[in-house]
Amino acid sequence: MSPSSAPTSFPKGEIKILLLENVHQSAHQIFRGQGFQIEAVPRALKEDELVAKLAEGFHVLGIRSKTQVTKRALEASKRLLTVGAFCIGTNQIDLEAAKHAGVPVFNAPFSNTRSVAELVICEIIMLARQLGDRSREVHEGTWRKVATQSYEVRGKTLGIVGYGHIGSQVGVLAEAMGMRVISYDIRPTLPMGNNKAVDTLDALLHASDFVTLHVPETPQTKGMIGESEIAKMKDGGYLINLSRGTVVDLEALARAIRANKLAGAALDVYPHEPESNAETFESVVRGLPNVVLTPHIGGSTLEAQEAIGREVAHVLTKFINSGATVGAVDFPQVELALMPGAHRVLNVHKNVPGVLRDINRLVSDRNANVLGQLLATDPSIGYLVMDLDKEVANDVRKAIAELDASIKTRILF
Ligand code: NAI
Repeated sequence: MSPSSAPTSFPKGEIKILLLENVHQSAHQIFRGQGFQIEAVPRALKEDELVAKLAEGFHVLGIRSKTQVTKRALEASKRLLTVGAFCIGTNQIDLEAAKHAGVPVFNAPFSNTRSVAELVICEIIMLARQLGDRSREVHEGTWRKVATQSYEVRGKTLGIVGYGHIGSQVGVLAEAMGMRVISYDIRPTLPMGNNKAVDTLDALLHASDFVTLHVPETPQTKGMIGESEIAKMKDGGYLINLSRGTVVDLEALARAIRANKLAGAALDVYPHEPESNAETFESVVRGLPNVVLTPHIGGSTLEAQEAIGREVAHVLTKFINSGATVGAVDFPQVELALMPGAHRVLNVHKNVPGVLRDINRLVSDRNANVLGQLLATDPSIGYLVMDLDKEVANDVRKAIAELDASIKTRILF
């Protein structure tokens, strides 16, 4: 038997969950409701500490952004079934190593969508009224009661670049304030409310009073808004970026603000962001008029933290209880409704020629009746979910676990 293919099947009360970095109580509640055992550590663990802790036999590891889940930690923890990143990013986890260890990794990509959308709405009005500057002036004792360059947002055009989860929410909220909403996306999208999709980025830039960016970081979006794109925006327009720092050329933006080409900008993300609150923020956009700068807090609300706790705990629980991997960031995606009266065998294997033939042979040798089956693969691994008659399922599970290609096998009773 390959060492990592040891059978893993437990009563719920024996599932051990390690939660680091103050994962929100909403997750604890869901795990407690399932009867799982929880151990919580309020801080991140260093690699050696993590290796030692996981050796205690945890089945689930929950982290936030600071714990580095390395290849060594993953390979050392033979009982680990899954990792939950209670945050958005998963760069802190060696996803390749996790996949090869048969460990799906889940995160919470959309739990802070609403928080970001609300901040965008706030900033549209802030920019239109020069609120950041007026507030700072009054704090400094300057009373500058002016109406020049202050506008209502009603009737103005908001151009949304990237009409995904956040972009579409922003559009709905902006329409409630009487804005006209247009959007540009590289894929066909379902327009919400009265949103009109336009065919090109140029068309959006030409027509918008406010341009807000909600694209992911990809080679295509790097430097997407630079000198020539800003030149295509309306004179006196506003630019808002709460997506990723690499999307906007900040030098070009700073020039456009100084030249009064743009009347303002709001930025939450930057190409270079301080790694901790102790570091100073340096950027060419500091000190510019009517430029609202925030420290990457678009998604940082208590509601989002609570939603992240719930969302990740929910997908981890679903994986433990049914083997579903839909939403995993490193794994072939499988979800199969539980078949009453069957036992479910879950097998992660190396995607090598002949492995399915071997599995099918083991099943047919035992005259096992397959009640349901789903296989998903990527170039390196396969993930098989198979529902079998109760009488033979455990025998089949043992035989599959002994195959050389098997990485991880468990059964759900
Ligand atoms: P999403 O994946 O739901 O939507 C992104 C949309 O952009 C998709 O519809 C996609 O087709 C489109 N897109 C991709 N490439 C494009 C291109 N070259 N031109 C036009 N459209 C393009 O993502 P979601 O959840 O709406 O997030 C959007 C951005 O917001 C991401 O960059 C994410 O990292 C960022 N974000 C920032 C936060 C903050 O704290 N400031 C918090 C959460 C997300």
